[in-house]
Amino acid sequence: MRDITESTITDAVLESFGSTGDARLKQLMQSLVTHLHGFVREVEPTTAEWMAAIRFLTRTGQICDDRRQEFILLSDTLGVSVLVDLINHRMPIGATDTTVLGPFYVDNPPGYPLGADIAEGMTGKPMYCDGRVLTAAGEPIPGALVDVWQCDGDGHYDIQLGGGKLGLRARLVADEQGRFAFWSVVPSHYPIPEDGPVGEMLGATGRHPYRPAHVHFMISHPGHETLVTHIFLDGSPYLESDTVFDVKTSLVTRVAHHDAGTAPDGKRMDRPWGRLHYDFGLKSTAGDPPVATPARELTGARA
Ligand SMILES: [Fe+2]
Repeated sequence: MRDITESTITDAVLESFGSTGDARLKQLMQSLVTHLHGFVREVEPTTAEWMAAIRFLTRTGQICDDRRQEFILLSDTLGVSVLVDLINHRMPIGATDTTVLGPFYVDNPPGYPLGADIAEGMTGKPMYCDGRVLTAAGEPIPGALVDVWQCDGDGHYDIQLGGGKLGLRARLVADEQGRFAFWSVVPSHYPIPEDGPVGEMLGATGRHPYRPAHVHFMISHPGHETLVTHIFLDGSPYLESDTVFDVKTSLVTRVAHHDAGTAPDGKRMDRPWGRLHYDFGLKSTAGDPPVATPARELTGARA
């Protein structure tokens, strides 16, 4: 393999993967090379531009640690995370739409009893959040694990505040009727972390870094696909321009605002509070028939 030229380099690299034993790995590598070379041919980067790209990716890795995941942010802001999610979750009618995981999930969140206050002192207007976990056919799923995480009323997640204290994240177990409930705070819209390479990319291209207000859920139970989704708050800014492209109308729900008084769980509230209610539908692993993408518009919140 000598005297490689602009017109022969791509075939030479593709051929170098020709004897890859794993057929899927061979497909991935050859497709990656094909598209990467196509990109380079299209934009004809200068050497300085290519090195700037290398430095960008290097810094993206260097800023990552066990609490900061800049590569997920990069994937999210380029729309790749949503595309992968959509391809992998063509859902049946009755199953809740999925969203990306995002960078703020923490494995094995602290367990709480149903109805607990998970705010742990984080600030914001009190919010009672409740709903049910159901099959796509609408039957309750007793004992479903409900992981929830969200930011506070100022748009901060616990792990962004430092100090190592967790708050506004929990693992709950649905009751025999598939119901769950907890107290938190009304979350705010927020900017994704802007102090790293992804923030530089957004700034350099004139894009804003904001996400509309939401609560994250991960719901699991044997026999069903684990559901990763958000519930977005109706009326929040940025519903039409989420910087990670993940708002689905079926997931937008209104927070009902109440004056001081008695909450649904009997708790006496001495100040205004909100209520967020949503019922989730889980897809069976036994194989509910998938529906074509346009019909996903028909799926939606039950509440
Ligand atoms: Fe979030």
